[in-house]
This record gives sequence, C-alpha cells and structure tokens, in this order.
Amino acid sequence: MNNFEFKNPTKIIFGKDTIKNIANEIPTNAKVLLLYGGGSIKKNGIYDQVTTALANVDFIEFGGIPANPEYALLMDALKVIKDEKITYLLAVGGGSVIDGTKFLSAAALYEGETPWDILTKNIRTEKGMPFGTVLTLPATGSEMNSGAVITRKETKEKLAMGGPGLFPVFSILDPQVISSIPQRQLANGLMDAFTHVLEQYMTYPVEALLQDRFAESILQTIIEVAPKILKDPTDYKAASNFMWSCTMALNGLIQKGVPTDWAVHAMGHELTALFGIDHARTLAIIAPSHYEFNFDAKKEKLAQYGERVWNITEGTLEEKSKAAIKKTVAFFHEIGIDTKLSDYTKDYEGTAEKIAKRFTDRGWLGLGEHQSLSPDKVEEIVKMAY
Ligand code: NZQ
Ligand code: ZN
Repeated sequence: MNNFEFKNPTKIIFGKDTIKNIANEIPTNAKVLLLYGGGSIKKNGIYDQVTTALANVDFIEFGGIPANPEYALLMDALKVIKDEKITYLLAVGGGSVIDGTKFLSAAALYEGETPWDILTKNIRTEKGMPFGTVLTLPATGSEMNSGAVITRKETKEKLAMGGPGLFPVFSILDPQVISSIPQRQLANGLMDAFTHVLEQYMTYPVEALLQDRFAESILQTIIEVAPKILKDPTDYKAASNFMWSCTMALNGLIQKGVPTDWAVHAMGHELTALFGIDHARTLAIIAPSHYEFNFDAKKEKLAQYGERVWNITEGTLEEKSKAAIKKTVAFFHEIGIDTKLSDYTKDYEGTAEKIAKRFTDRGWLGLGEHQSLSPDKVEEIVKMAY
C-alpha cells in the first residue's frame, strides 16, 4: 500500500426529511446566495422545502445553472456575490450546480487577474467562500469532494479545478429527491459512479486489500440497485443505497494508498466539450476501448474484478479479464447507455486527432496510473471508441 494523507471535512446529513435541517448548519449572520439549475427543484417540491427551511435566513437566489456549468453564466453569479456582499453559498442541485458553486466559492476570494486562470493555470484553492449543498441527483460525488469541472462554450473547453478549500461545509442527502429524476439521469448517475470506482481501482495491484474491497463493494452495490432504481425511483431502499454509493465512490476514501487512472474522464470531458454528450455517457464510450487498449497493464486487476464482482471463475487470467470487459459493456447496455461515439454523433471523424492535439497543447503528455498514456495512444483509444 502506498503512503497517504486523508482529510475530508464535509458533514453529511443523510436520510428521509433532512432538508429541513439546513438552517441549523448556516451561521446566523450569513448573507446567503441560493444557487440552482434549470428549474427541476421548482417542480418536485425541493425548492419549497429549501426556502421553508431558510425562513429565518437572509438569502437571495440565482437559478439557471445549466448541465455542464457554464463559465459565462457563473461570471454573472459572481457579480451578484460581489454586489450583494454574499458571505455563504448554498447549492441545490446535481453535480453541475454544486461544481458551479465550487467555482464561485473559489472565484469570490480569488485575487488574480481573471478567475479563468483558476482553470487554465491549475490554481489550487486553499480557501474558498464557505458553502453547503442539498444534493438532488446522485452521480458525481461532488457533494463530498473538493473538485469541480467547468465548461466554457465560447472555446469548447471543459476544465477541472479543486483544492482543500473546496469541500462543502455540509451536504444534505435525502434519497427521496430521487423519485423525480428522469430515467436518462438515473442511468447517468449509475454510470458515472461506477466509472469513478473503476478509475481508482482498475490499475495494478499494490496489496491494498481493504481499498480493493471497498471499491468492489461499491461496484456490487451499484449493480444490485441499478435495475431496482430504474424500475422504481421511489423505492427508498434502492434510492438510499444508490445515493450513498455515489457519494462513497468519489469522496477520496477509496483512492487513498492506491494508484489512480482518470484517463477515461480526461478523454470523456473532451467529448462533452466538443459534442455536448452527457458526462456519464462519454465515460461509457471511452472506458471499454481504454481497458482493451491498456489490457496488459491492467489485466491483473481486470481479472480480480471479473472474479469478485462478476463471479467469473473459469479460464486463464487473460480470459477472465476479457470476460470482465464484456460484462462491463453489457451492464452499460442494460442500464440503457450506448458505448460508441457513432451512437451519439455522425460527425465523429477527426475527433481522436483533435483530442490528441489538445492534450499535446496542454502538455498532458502522460496520463494514467503509469503516466504513460501519450497523446498518440489517446488518439488510438478514441478511434477505437468510434
Ligand atoms: O437543471 P435542473 O432543472 O435542476 O435539472 C437537472 C439537469 O437537467 C436534472 N435534475 C437534477 N436533480 C433532479 C433533476 N431532475 C429531476 N429531479 C431531480 N431531483 O438532471 C439534469 C442533470 O443535472 P447535472 O447536475 O448536470 O448532473 P450530474 O449530477 O450528473 O452532474 C454532471 C456534471 O458534474 C461533473 C460533470 O462533468 C458534469 O459537468 N462532474 C463533477 C465531478 C466532481 N465535482 O467531482 C466528477 C464527475 O466525474 C463529473 O466530471
Ligand atoms: Zn465522472
């Protein structure tokens, strides 16, 4: 096992009817900006629950943050924060609203020339404006981690940021919010969380027995709840296990002491930036080709995953690993997610070269757990995903 440090300061308030607890978590003298997305919270009653809970809190609101939070719109929110002397942010939404809020938390206290530099110059945020979240869509883990991904339409870029100052102070996880989530977003949530685990697990063995079993148990739980939650999002048993699995998949715990990959996400983000494909679906496009391409480097873990998660007991190590990739693709299909770029766009020619060039220009010359995935290899993987 590798050396590590672990600190996660986010307070989780989990369970039925917990949204009413918001006010206990926000300082009484705070001036709050309530941030939300395109309006789902107004239809499903979450907005009412939140504003009722904020009855004695001084707050104003900013809605309209789109899926893949957009830089230009967030700059409008930043102006509101400055003009209204906001001291505390409250995100009510999925990964996009929470990530947008993290960007604002960083940008509000940023003293450099333009907040865009936070994204392009990899500036870590040591201290941000404090914020809490009410999670409405289990998927990203953003409610309990310190990372964010921001999109800029103007330049078709999608870039990550983060730092120890960007953990939410608290996050409220009421699994009942899942009942209004459309099928497409439920599938996205399952897919995203599943891939988060794979990115931190499908590398090479380092005798980290507990981390491996944490990861495998999250994968098994997602596989078990997937058909139930897709069939009936009001099934509280399935919803609560789905929600907690997504949070645990990316709150930092399972990646401690082990190598991590994250190349699937790096390539996937480009597909969202170029084609607007949902984040989770970009992962389903890239992951199978990535595991085929890097088969030799990953085959020990692929076989272990095949045995422990998919009960593949027959065959050589190579055969088990191959079967594990097949099972994974079949699972993506079962939850209704296509796995080829051509399923999403007819305009895919030249994409691989474009992505490889972008990575070269950014100096991303070696991705993956061995830092060996050079832009020419990225190009091959994306081509395999056509
Ligand atoms: O905008 P509204 O109207 O609220 O509708 C949203 C949105 O259209 C809807 N929705 C959310 N909760 C709902 C609901 N509809 C009905 N009932 C509810 N309870 O769902 C749609 C998608 O929401 P979004 O927040 O975009 O989804 P998700 O949580 O999947 O977030 C995706 C974003 O997170 C980033 C992605 O790149 C993408 O930009 N990620 C963030 C990560 C992180 N911070 O750690 C890691 C991830 O790998 C990912 O990159
Ligand atoms: Zn993701």
